Amino acid sequence: MVECEWRRALVTKETSFVAHSRPVVDEIVPTYEACAGGVLDYTLGMQQKPLKAYANVGLMRLARRFRSSTNPARPVVAYAEPTLYCNLGCPACPTGLKLDVRPRVAMEFEWYRRVLDELGPYLFFLNLYNWGEPLLHKQFPEMVAYAKQWDIRVIASSNLSLPLEREYLERLVRSGLDKLKVGMEGTSQEEYARYRVRGNFDLVTGNMRTIQEIKRELGLRTPKILIGFHVFEHNQHSVQEARRRYREWGADGISFAASFVSEQAEQQGIRPSTIDAFNLYRAAGLETSREPCSWLWGAIVANPSGSISPCCGVVDERSDFVRDARGKSIFGTVWNNAVYRRARRITAKPRAHGGRRVHLPRDGMQLSSIPTRERELICERCPIPFRQDYVDRMVDKVANDVITQMRHGKRLRIRLRASLAFVLMGMPKGKRRRARADDAQPPEPRDTERERLLLTGAGGASGRP
Ligand SMILES: C[S@@+](CC[C@H](N)C(=O)[O-])C[C@H]1O[C@@H](n2cnc3c(N)ncnc32)[C@H](O)[C@@H]1O
Ligand code: SF4
Ligand code: SF4
Repeated sequence: MVECEWRRALVTKETSFVAHSRPVVDEIVPTYEACAGGVLDYTLGMQQKPLKAYANVGLMRLARRFRSSTNPARPVVAYAEPTLYCNLGCPACPTGLKLDVRPRVAMEFEWYRRVLDELGPYLFFLNLYNWGEPLLHKQFPEMVAYAKQWDIRVIASSNLSLPLEREYLERLVRSGLDKLKVGMEGTSQEEYARYRVRGNFDLVTGNMRTIQEIKRELGLRTPKILIGFHVFEHNQHSVQEARRRYREWGADGISFAASFVSEQAEQQGIRPSTIDAFNLYRAAGLETSREPCSWLWGAIVANPSGSISPCCGVVDERSDFVRDARGKSIFGTVWNNAVYRRARRITAKPRAHGGRRVHLPRDGMQLSSIPTRERELICERCPIPFRQDYVDRMVDKVANDVITQMRHGKRLRIRLRASLAFVLMGMPKGKRRRARADDAQPPEPRDTERERLLLTGAGGASGRP
């Protein structure tokens, strides 16, 4: 598969970086971190998934390669949304703006359990968040723990600006959550609350420190806390300071990403960064993927109301593919229904989306994708064309784990099992593929003076290789 040029540009130290408390994975959070899984610590080793899960990845890759509109494989990645409401009012977010494009409800555990019971054996990743604040769900730790019985990597993103009791945080740490991304865009209360409206900087850092304390007490390494610092014009000067201080605030790592802005945000003086690398609206635009959308073959999003979205970019409930899947088998009745098959045919058309340069509208998190026509299929005007390769990147992560075990597994049995898993997956190239693509076409250097100063600043944890 051809690597998207703009994404390649983002995985270089010229344009973005992640700082960690210790060397972990060779990965940079791309600018569309809005709903991505992001960085995970892969020193944890290979997941204990049954071999049928690896065979399912192979089947999924094959079905997509042959552009089969009926998909015999199960999803390998899922999003499940614990709540659709929030305590903050971020002005680029449909929930923060209270647009009411989805009902303000929490996910019932019974619905969640059904999704996991059906898909859990095949899932490698579960993102427990999308449009709401997940830690407002009282059973959030239990949701994580339930997924961990299938050894799924579970990731959440929270504002963490919540008065959480120590007992809740202890349950959270014990749940097995792998990564907690914390949205925090500033180094002081004033700067932070310009975007995180009603947010409390001390509450966030206090919660992060308490989680670290509990981890130490319990002798646990997870959840890894990663600050997600979305860069805007008003906070771009603080990137270096945040990079120096993230550990003091209680995080294990920090990532800097370009941010969506909206009309409402711009009215409050929240503008895109003037640094090209952190600007999603840059003059050159973003290049779209050339392959059929990977979400439609390998991922699924389960919403609290029971509806199913095809990907994380579906803002409005009316664009969902199924209104209420509760009580139905996802694989048996939803996954290959007429809407899914039509969507797969649309994105499988040769070059339907591929290689185009797109300019994003300044509409916050794809707010202009709210449908204007009844029964319009969201894939006909995809809100996240630059993110259609998401599942490929997640499969790369699994492949990297498997390749590491094949080469360095301590016992012969482990190495043999990993080799078999690799073959069943269809031998994806993982990290090596990316390295080759990067070598072949190095990204254009970006050397504005500000950017150079920002990205080569002295001291602190180093950026990227
Ligand atoms: C809608 S939020 C829901 C999760 C949670 N409430 C939070 O804020 O982390 C989903 C993701 O969008 C990110 N996000 C928020 N505002 C953003 C912006 N303007 N641009 C890019 N990502 C943004 C958040 O940090 C989070 O990772
Ligand atoms: S981005 Fe997250 S914290 Fe901000 S309003 Fe949206 S859901 Fe809430
Ligand atoms: S809207 Fe776009 S990213 Fe989402 S499933 Fe459709 S084509 Fe894929």
